[in-house]
Amino acid sequence: MILVTGGAGFIGANFVLDWLEHGDEPVLNLDKLTYAGNLHNLDSLQGDARHVFVQGDIGDRALLDRLLAEYQPRAIVNFAAESHVDRSIHGPEDFIQTNVVGTFRLLEAVRHYWSALPAGGKAAFRFLHVSTDEVYGTLAPEDPAFTEEHRTEPNSPYSASKAASDHLVRAWHHTYGLPVLTTNCSNNYGPLHFPEKLIPLVIVNALAGKPLPVYGDGMQVRDWLYVADHCSAIRRVLQAGEPGQVYNVGGWNEKPNIDIVKTVCALLDELRPRADGASYAGQITYVTDRPGHDRRYAIDARKIERELGWKPAETFETGIRKTVQWYLDNPEWVTNVQSGAYREWVAKQYAD
Ligand code: NAD
Ligand code: DAU
Repeated sequence: MILVTGGAGFIGANFVLDWLEHGDEPVLNLDKLTYAGNLHNLDSLQGDARHVFVQGDIGDRALLDRLLAEYQPRAIVNFAAESHVDRSIHGPEDFIQTNVVGTFRLLEAVRHYWSALPAGGKAAFRFLHVSTDEVYGTLAPEDPAFTEEHRTEPNSPYSASKAASDHLVRAWHHTYGLPVLTTNCSNNYGPLHFPEKLIPLVIVNALAGKPLPVYGDGMQVRDWLYVADHCSAIRRVLQAGEPGQVYNVGGWNEKPNIDIVKTVCALLDELRPRADGASYAGQITYVTDRPGHDRRYAIDARKIERELGWKPAETFETGIRKTVQWYLDNPEWVTNVQSGAYREWVAKQYAD
């Protein structure tokens, strides 16, 4: 069995579904079910004995000790985190609590469990920490993409909290010998993406006839990877990664935000034309920039390709078409996640 934390969120849920499609090893899924966690993401696993869900916090040491003793996982994949940069700017506290203190508590519980394993189990055990390219800071247009050797220079409360967690994971390997793996991935997109993030927000707002908010000049660059490709990279690292190593994960898909928004509009124009025949691009609205907004991220993914033979399966064109189609096919999922808490956030963030 493996333990997945944060497995009811966007990437975690995609990972759990993907894992059980590719094999039969059971998953213990520990998720606090914050605003971003959604059990409907896992509806297709209802009645499936291979999936055990527990609602709980990675910062709850007593719960962790009990779960580790009872289920004896052979590996842990840690997705649980507060993940939205804008929310970290409005309220950093939860980010420090979960991403830093939570990761620390999880590492401590795992270290105690792992130290008591018999020699074979101890050597085979893995703790895979899912992190982000944002820990490397920002790039100028002419800079080479981030390699694993790039300095850690986080600029937002979110990225600082993730960088802190990466450092803890590294230290638990060097000091205690815990067999850890860290992945630093670029921006994901795909099904089940919570509509506070750029791509799903644009799809959902476009269909609702609302403004499509573009921060600043819209020329900030992100490097996009289809979520199923991130899941396959994590499976590969878990299977063949070398303990103590860091692997960058990315799809070589750098795009300015405004291009992303226009691409989504063009797909919607084709797949669900507006009743008045006008383009959704007419709803694009430039709004106040994010404070401290990183200008460019780009991942150099040559190490994982060279050492582990991993490559993404989707191009941006195939992945974004699948994504837009998924949102068109799943309006009830969108309605479900647009709770009171979601509406409150949108009203606060886009007030001006
Ligand atoms: P998400 O916000 O959609 O999901 C996070 C999940 O973690 C939710 O289900 C939430 O309920 C759960 N959670 C939050 N706090 C918890 C706690 N204290 N204990 C247990 N569960 C808790 O995030 P996501 O986009 O799926 O990101 C997952 C991970 O991948 C994060 O660690 C993030 O930093 C990393 N990452 C995300 C991206 C991206 O583009 N979304 C890219 C690279 C890395
Ligand atoms: O790079 C990996 C990171 O990608 C992950 O670690 C984070 O968890 C994930 O949220 C994501 O962070 P970003 O800040 O890049 O994603 P977001 O979707 O919030 O924004 C993408 C870009 O679009 C960014 O430059 C800000 C901009 N943006 C975002 C929103 C929500 C807009 O222009 N308008 C918006 O309304």
